[in-house]
Amino acid sequence: MPERKQITFALLGFGKLGQGFYKIWQNKKDQIKEQTGYELILTKILIRNEHYERPKNVDEKLFTHNLDDLLNDTNLKVVVDVIGGIEPIFSIIKKLIEKKINVISANRILLASKMHELSDLANTHLIHFLTEPSLGGGIPVSVILQRDLVANQVTELYGIVSGVSNFILNEMTDNKISLNRVLENPDIIKMAESISIIDYEGSDSAMKVSILAATAFGIDINYLHIYAEGVSEITLQDIIWADHFGYELKMLAIMRDHAECFELRVHPTLVPKEHPMISVKGEYNAYYIKTDLLGEYMVYGLGVGTEPTSSLILRDLIEIGNRIYNNPRRQRFNFNWNNKRVMDIGEIETSYYVRFPCVDKPGVMGEITTIIGKHKINISSAHAEIGKLDNKVIGYVHIFLEKTRESHLYSAIEKIKALKLIQGEIKFFRILDED
Ligand SMILES: NC(=O)c1ccc[n+]([C@@H]2O[C@H](COP(=O)([O-])OP(=O)(O)OC[C@H]3O[C@@H](n4cnc5c(N)ncnc54)[C@H](OP(=O)(O)O)[C@@H]3O)[C@@H](O)[C@H]2O)c1
Repeated sequence: MPERKQITFALLGFGKLGQGFYKIWQNKKDQIKEQTGYELILTKILIRNEHYERPKNVDEKLFTHNLDDLLNDTNLKVVVDVIGGIEPIFSIIKKLIEKKINVISANRILLASKMHELSDLANTHLIHFLTEPSLGGGIPVSVILQRDLVANQVTELYGIVSGVSNFILNEMTDNKISLNRVLENPDIIKMAESISIIDYEGSDSAMKVSILAATAFGIDINYLHIYAEGVSEITLQDIIWADHFGYELKMLAIMRDHAECFELRVHPTLVPKEHPMISVKGEYNAYYIKTDLLGEYMVYGLGVGTEPTSSLILRDLIEIGNRIYNNPRRQRFNFNWNNKRVMDIGEIETSYYVRFPCVDKPGVMGEITTIIGKHKINISSAHAEIGKLDNKVIGYVHIFLEKTRESHLYSAIEKIKALKLIQGEIKFFRILDED
């Protein structure tokens, strides 16, 4: 049996994740002790509101609302941050780091906003600072990129990072129902960390992308500066036409490492039906990674919930134990920050599908394609179909564009919008095209 070594830790926060983790830690700690020799000892739980009723099965002596109880505990080795928001937790974590207490953080918004400052402080005080549980699932993607693929140059990464958005698009696609109908499904509420985290506008995905870009590529970007669209504008018509042309809409995070700059965006994307990412269904997440040595590589696993997140928190507690006890001189947490510029969305180049609702009469397609040609954009195919808008029969022109700069597409659409033949909103989607 391995030698027993103690890892004392405190929880910061005791909400949905904190309580879920507590149960899993209780069920797993003996097995972990047997397998690894590490005794994971919970010493304190920092809470905000001392008057809330806490679960009866938790020893009430663990709870404290006084941060000094942690700061003055000279035996405390690790804190696990399962609080949300930026302040006061940012200040709290800084104080704990200054006391040389190691940190595991699942706090997405904090890391997506303050990663650089916190990691610099962690390096200054030579503590271990582990952030992967904040990605919200159980896939160890940061560690795969940092450690397992260390000899590779990762050129592209596509991620399905929002289990809830993936579930929504999947339900719309498989059952041909509207977004509102999907939102009536009670599973959505259970799946989302909270109703406010249903990622309608893509900001939760942008937070994950910001954290992953930092850990995997050394890109320092606040999530508010990442281009993100969510599922809020997706209509059943979008789903049906995508299917008609051989695609499925997937909410994708796209990261590409260019020589001079970095491409980073998250939005619903048309993915060809034969692409491996199509097989990622329901609340699952996946990362499709392209590297120079490995070619194409895909990891897949549960993307939401306290169980998968707790799996990573427990792994990180053991990892900190390994570093403290077996390898104390090991390099502490260390981002290789690089100062590559992140491209503006108008600068990206990809292929597109554009849908023009228009009057149903001859010559319409010619007028539209002429304007597109004047913007030096190549058309790969164009189709005219009859469809319905507000119960009225109208024409639709569907145009697929070869790779073009996005700002050129904006200019062409502006011009086409002014044509009298246009009958409604012109909609476009970026297509997943691989280099
Ligand atoms: N839920 C998940 O599956 C999941 C997965 C991955 C990451 N995360 C991340 O984990 C964090 C927590 O998520 P959650 O779903 O557990 O949220 P939650 O249910 O709202 O819980 C947050 C907890 O933090 C506590 N808290 C807030 N401010 C505090 C302060 N100043 N001092 C001490 N405690 C404070 C709250 O205390 P009171 O009880 O006293 O109000 C509450 O117990 C978030 O950052 C989220 O992004 C969650």
